[in-house]
Amino acid sequence: MFPKKPPMGFNTWNTFGENISADMIKQTADAMVEKGLVDAGYEYLVIDDCWSKRRRDPETDRIVPDPVKFPNGMKDVSDYVHAKGMKFGMYSCAGVRTCADYPGSFDHEYLDAKTFADYGADFLKYDYCYKPENADGPLLYRKMSMALRSSGRDIMLSACNWGCDDVHKWIRSTGAGMYRSTGDICDNFVSFRDIFLSQLDNFVYSAPGCFNDIDMLTVGMYSQGNVGSTGCTDTEYRLQFSLWCMFAAPLMLGCDVRKINDVTLKLVTNKHLLRINQDEEGRPPFIAKHDGNNQKNIYVRVLSDNQLAIMCTNFTDRDHRAWLPLENIGVPVNVGKGLRLFNVFTGEDEGVCKESLFTQVGAHDCAVYLAEICDA
Ligand code: GAL
Repeated sequence: MFPKKPPMGFNTWNTFGENISADMIKQTADAMVEKGLVDAGYEYLVIDDCWSKRRRDPETDRIVPDPVKFPNGMKDVSDYVHAKGMKFGMYSCAGVRTCADYPGSFDHEYLDAKTFADYGADFLKYDYCYKPENADGPLLYRKMSMALRSSGRDIMLSACNWGCDDVHKWIRSTGAGMYRSTGDICDNFVSFRDIFLSQLDNFVYSAPGCFNDIDMLTVGMYSQGNVGSTGCTDTEYRLQFSLWCMFAAPLMLGCDVRKINDVTLKLVTNKHLLRINQDEEGRPPFIAKHDGNNQKNIYVRVLSDNQLAIMCTNFTDRDHRAWLPLENIGVPVNVGKGLRLFNVFTGEDEGVCKESLFTQVGAHDCAVYLAEICDA
């Protein structure tokens, strides 16, 4: 499975943790259709850790779904998700146990890949807990990638080794379609800011085929659920979602989409932000204006169809007047050219700017534009 664009979907972990069930998954699938999330492109519904019994079946050695959480097994859930027009994701671990202490796939890669194929899985998140000390991490991802390829189903490998072993350098060669590059996100501003900043030098490795996954979104969680912390303001969620879009990160919703509010729904279905995230060329942004400690950087990304995306960030606690001399992006003052700006939040044209772009950016907020070079 070669993802041409950053995968989009929903994952159970951020909100539900171990409190998952067939009913909860089916209700989520219903909600994703009813609220227009599937139409907007959120196609994967991924069940994270805690779906199985604590022990493998002693006779078959297979992982067994928890009979209380999933009384009719996983194929039943997968069929339901597929009938809703979505793709179905499962979870396992390269170590002997998962992070929440359920059976991992170490030494069972081919059997488990077959089991996931039998379930009708289209996606496998593959974690890294309880890896035997002497086992080679990259080889474990190669092994599961090959096992999935031999399973008879097209199943995308979503690696999750939290950035260990310089993962960005070798993960594409394993055949994985995306890879977690950081530790776990919590639902607060500092957490998503630091996760994003930790990858500033690595986004150049993220491209069609294998995308840098900076973790499931906490947008719309408002402190509730498994990784709920202090929560974020709507402004901070807008900053988080815009960063993920700008840097072509996979967009895996982590809030309870059954209860998603209008503000969140509007944000995560913003077609201009999604257009930036899903751009077919998948080029990395560059820093067009650097402020020293990356708190107020301006990023520019070259998109398809002769467009640009511009994002002015403000991680500080004060309002900030952002200034981008167009010379910084290769548009000198003396060539009679400027940028036509379209504000992705208001959906309004903001006219043509010449020489410099100025904009006011609130604390923990951002400004995002689609732009085109034009006569000025
Ligand atoms: C972590 C992983 C999380 C979640 C959790 C489940 O290692 O980074 O995203 O999958 O395990 O136990």
